[in-house]
Amino acid sequence: MRTLYSSAQIAERVRELGDELARVYAGRPLTVVGVLHGSVVLVADLIRAMPIPHQIAFVRASSYRGETTTGTNLQTSLEGLPDVAGRDVLLIDDIFDTGRTLSALAASINALGPASLRTAVLLWKVDRREVAATPDYYGFRIPDEFVIGYGLDYNGNYRNLPEIAVMEPGDL
Ligand code: IMP
Ligand code: MG
Repeated sequence: MRTLYSSAQIAERVRELGDELARVYAGRPLTVVGVLHGSVVLVADLIRAMPIPHQIAFVRASSYRGETTTGTNLQTSLEGLPDVAGRDVLLIDDIFDTGRTLSALAASINALGPASLRTAVLLWKVDRREVAATPDYYGFRIPDEFVIGYGLDYNGNYRNLPEIAVMEPGDL
């Protein structure tokens, strides 16, 4: 496995994003909504880099896939999401790949009448986009390679790796 971003590089970028988001949402009724499970590490670090009052919540998404490709069988659930009507929602995932996950979740949450909805991801795989939307905030733009760590998994493993690493064919 090859390191793409070290934990120090990620921490620095997350601090910058936190500063920016704290300015954007200062004085607003903000709910940070993470997508389970991939966003948990980013959410945990990012909210501590945002010194403004806000609430957090989590929603679910899974695309049925056992290997390193994103499946088309996307399932989402807003179960457990508190009332976001009239609130600003910042929807957070680990990575924007085809964009289908965040687009689907954004459409469902928008139907609940938030004051605004924006998306933030750590990684944006720019060459793979299959939807009109792009992430509103992102940490790094990356090429089309399969990455793990900092919340990102391969078959459920490696989410706890403190860095972002590229899985190469020989690693699989
Ligand atoms: P999208 O719907 O195609 O944008 O895919 C987003 C989801 O696919 C993310 O939440 C990840 O769970 C997963 N995913 C996409 N690319 C990668 C990767 O390189 N490593 C690990 N998971 C990935
Ligand atoms: Mg995932």
